[in-house]
Amino acid sequence: MQEAGVNLVSLAIFSWSRIEPAAATYDFAWLDRIMDLLHSGGIAVDLATATASPPPWLSHRHPEMLPITIDGVRLWHGARQHYCPSSPVYRDAARHLVEQMATRYASHPALAMWHVGNEFGCHVPACYCDVSANAFRKWLQERYGAIEDLNRAWGTDFWSQRYSKWDEVLPPRRTPTWPNPSQQLDFMRFSSDELLACYEIEHDVLKEHSPGVPVTTNFMRFFKPLDYWKWAEREDIVTDDVYQDPSDPEAGMRSAMAGDLMRSLGRGRPWVLMEQTSSRVNWREVNVAKAPGQMRLWSFQAVARGADGVMFFQWRQSRAGAEKFHSAMVPHGPVSSSPVWKEVKQLGQELRGLDAVCGSRVKADVAIVFDWESWWALELPSKPSIRIRQEAQLEEYYRPLFAANVVADFARPTDDLSGYRLVLVPNLYLVDDEGAAGLTSYVRNGGTLVMSFFSGVVDQFEHIHLGGHPAPFADILGLRVADWLPLADGEHVDVAFADGAKGHGDLWSEIIETSGARSLASFAGGHLDKRAAVTKHEFGSGAAYYVGTRLDRASMARFLHSVWTDAGVSPELEAPSGVEVMRRSVGHRSILFLLNHRDRAVDVPLAQAGTNLVDGSQVHAGLFRLGPYGAAVIREGW
Ligand code: GAL
Ligand code: ZN
Repeated sequence: MQEAGVNLVSLAIFSWSRIEPAAATYDFAWLDRIMDLLHSGGIAVDLATATASPPPWLSHRHPEMLPITIDGVRLWHGARQHYCPSSPVYRDAARHLVEQMATRYASHPALAMWHVGNEFGCHVPACYCDVSANAFRKWLQERYGAIEDLNRAWGTDFWSQRYSKWDEVLPPRRTPTWPNPSQQLDFMRFSSDELLACYEIEHDVLKEHSPGVPVTTNFMRFFKPLDYWKWAEREDIVTDDVYQDPSDPEAGMRSAMAGDLMRSLGRGRPWVLMEQTSSRVNWREVNVAKAPGQMRLWSFQAVARGADGVMFFQWRQSRAGAEKFHSAMVPHGPVSSSPVWKEVKQLGQELRGLDAVCGSRVKADVAIVFDWESWWALELPSKPSIRIRQEAQLEEYYRPLFAANVVADFARPTDDLSGYRLVLVPNLYLVDDEGAAGLTSYVRNGGTLVMSFFSGVVDQFEHIHLGGHPAPFADILGLRVADWLPLADGEHVDVAFADGAKGHGDLWSEIIETSGARSLASFAGGHLDKRAAVTKHEFGSGAAYYVGTRLDRASMARFLHSVWTDAGVSPELEAPSGVEVMRRSVGHRSILFLLNHRDRAVDVPLAQAGTNLVDGSQVHAGLFRLGPYGAAVIREGW
């Protein structure tokens, strides 16, 4: 580990059955030995609470703690994460274990951070058992008070779903056809909250025993089941697991987007890349290896996007078990012949030079509005088109920014957006009054906003906002949509821009009736001919743009480029395509990251001289050469 520059180790994540081999019987000897050994070697520990995989003796004795799927199937022990989040048996057993762990290690000198559970919800994001049904009812009672209010919120007059007693209310188990959408949405909220309650039980025990030690749990990028906005508020530091697919040409863009999300979840504070693979995973059908240099590149990318630490799953490749074909820092074979080990070692050495980066911040002029509840609601079935997917729609807006090296944060509609020059709103399908008011005042006070089709459609109960779509935003957008015309797979519409450029849209089209907005592009041909497709409306001292279709990528890039330029946003640096550029700063000092996503060398024009922290070399203004998958971290002029 010292050879690889390791200075932090996640430990005991799946060790419950070893630590507590029988009820209330503990074996800490082995863990003591490893904690001491790491400490004596100058390596700190991110110590897990070990609650992510309950031991077989527990579920054998209490099968009622096992989770039940939507189809009523019980999930047994023999893998991991086989617990019902609402189970008092699981929660008590976990709390006891964490009390033991905290008592024993709270003041161990190796302890740097607590790692609660592991990837909450990864395999079992929700449970439909009777215990969970009861917990769901309690959660609903707290939210609505009276059964009549639940009936109103869920619109239960539809299809004769009125409830007369709380006991009749169920989780949305398998039904003949679509269950009530408001019920499904509340169950998603509940399920995220229920897992968060498991996290909090452990969190509170840890804080009691070691108030000064940071507590985290590892996130999974854009993980739909958990509202990470809520979760991140309960963490001292945000950590993330990122497993790019090297066969995906847009993998680099996707991990950049995940990095920006993590930084935003922590409200700008540095985060940690908790897990990545040194090369391959084992859980895709074909597990393509990272190209030489790609692991190093993507590690630096995490740092560029705001991470202060880079870690791996896993240290040593296991000999047995379900993940023995997953790459590790130390492979099965001899390290001497492993290119992966070589790259791991190199990275470890290079990261040592980056101390100046720690604590520095990323500044963004653009925010992308993204809200989990809206995501959940958008993707419920029975819509004008179920082809609209939240992550894909976010990417439509993110892609041009990434390609041009324009930095964006993610934000909730209710956040203070006044510091951003530009706010992008892709498919904010669900918005409550507060969110709508926030976006409205952002524009009124001088902000520039771009909103996509199918936004502002429902409120927090999944009830339509009446008054003509998109009712909550009709004033700022200066338009109403008379009807939605979703496009069939493979169908597209031509779009003619006012400046003469031509493009097309797919997925969606609609009949826009402007009432103050100006058309920047119109549909061409068919019965939508000459009707507005993209609009702009001056509102208060700001401007609101609206996009009524999914523009082809070139048109989208051109459109957003003109919008951000007008809003006074500029790229970090004009760089050749395929080169990612980021900046982190401390006060007036800045550190420039150059990341070459291509497998051939490129020259990047630099305005300033500096020091490349990766190897300590001096960098001059003018052309700077980056090798294939090359990375440089340049301290600019100081
Ligand atoms: C993560 C998990 C690790 C390991 C890894 C494999 O989901 O936290 O324990 O399973 O994936 O890629
Ligand atoms: Zn359950």
